[in-house]
Amino acid sequence: MDQERFLVGGGARLNGQVRVSGAKNSVLKLMGAALLAEGTTVLRNCPDIDDVPLMRNVLEGLGCTVEHSGDTVAITVPGDLSPRADFDAVRQFRASVCVLGPLTARCRRAVVALPGGDAIGSRPLDMHQLGLEKLGASTRIEHGCLVAEAGRLRGARIKLDFPSVGATENILTAAVLAEGVTTLDNAAREPEIVDLCEMLVSMGARIDGAGTNTITVDGVERLHPAEHEVVGDRIVAGTWAYAAAMTGGDVTVGGIDPIHLHLPLEKLRVAGAQVESYPAGFRVRGVGRLRAVNYQTLPFPGFPTDLQPMAIALAAVSEGASILTENVFESRFRFVDEMIRLGAEATIDGHHVMIRGKERLSSAPVWASDIRAGAGLVLAGLCAEPGGVTEVHDVFHIDRGYPDFVATLSALGADIRREGAGRHHR
Ligand code: UD1
Repeated sequence: MDQERFLVGGGARLNGQVRVSGAKNSVLKLMGAALLAEGTTVLRNCPDIDDVPLMRNVLEGLGCTVEHSGDTVAITVPGDLSPRADFDAVRQFRASVCVLGPLTARCRRAVVALPGGDAIGSRPLDMHQLGLEKLGASTRIEHGCLVAEAGRLRGARIKLDFPSVGATENILTAAVLAEGVTTLDNAAREPEIVDLCEMLVSMGARIDGAGTNTITVDGVERLHPAEHEVVGDRIVAGTWAYAAAMTGGDVTVGGIDPIHLHLPLEKLRVAGAQVESYPAGFRVRGVGRLRAVNYQTLPFPGFPTDLQPMAIALAAVSEGASILTENVFESRFRFVDEMIRLGAEATIDGHHVMIRGKERLSSAPVWASDIRAGAGLVLAGLCAEPGGVTEVHDVFHIDRGYPDFVATLSALGADIRREGAGRHHR
């Protein structure tokens, strides 16, 4: 078990400039999409997070060679891929399921171990299966794996019940090599979907409508490798924005198109923070204590569920009561008990949580249950009483998604350090 923890001092204001690297939720899918073309695909602006080497293991298990140097990942894909992504490689992180579409298209067979549920709730794959079936594959669950088999895939009209990010990705990465036209309605519109489509287009795919809720794919016979720069991480950027606002700080964040954070930044403005947007970044200044605002998580361009813990942390120190409604994942309030341990006044009612803000939180030992919950707890710890130290445990979750988390916050003036006997030394 990982013994590492972060020690977070309360009371500091964050000041300075940071630049975010590529998005976790994009790079892993782009690495999976590289499987679609024989040869070497090169990805730049890759984040230094633990999920990238985990995805590398998945690809190597399928027969690829992966070279990782600095922020560049080069994936060499053989003509003959293994269609099996085994349990050992897949179980550690859910995003590995993104190899399903590319393997079904390339190998006409995919056997991908089911990653299982996690701390934010049950995460079924029914829409992924339905999409592949519409494209002509048969799918079944067998011995803990999702098995898809097909002749050549055929384009189809597919309508998703919900704009699932992962299902949209798997359908797109299968449809690009299908015969004929696929129309995907109620598709996810996240910037990471647009990034994936841009890379697929540079590999020779024919795609229209990325970023809207109807995406059309005209299948091609084969794709070629490409070079691509990963889109900036809007969730990491949003984390620093909320940290600046709630500590009364002044932080400029680069490497991100502020349109990708339109609603989270708008919420900060309404709460009373000063926000300036630039072509590739923004500046947030927290002026005095912010006012409570309400949130509803929704698919993009709605408020991202991945920033929900940061919104709860901000609400916990705002003036007045906030109601936050979680519409994307069923159990994403489990970490709220940890916030309560830090003194937050929060009441959960189904998929709503009501938070009554107070001037200061109170330092305590807390446990991270997933990447974003962990980051939200650190932000809350920054708003505990000066001199108090919040111990955040199970920080391996945070390392899965945030590059240089401690170094970035320290550079902004936070009192935070890593302690313990784990394997991370960032
Ligand atoms: C991705 C992100 C995650 C983010 C989420 C929503 C990655 C690696 N992860 O997850 O950080 O929080 O988008 O923005 O990119 N669902 C089904 N059946 C399906 C697929 C999904 O019922 O076949 C449900 C899920 O249980 C969930 C909702 O749809 O309640 C949204 O899930 P989805 O958009 O697919 O999220 P992920 O792609 O898993």
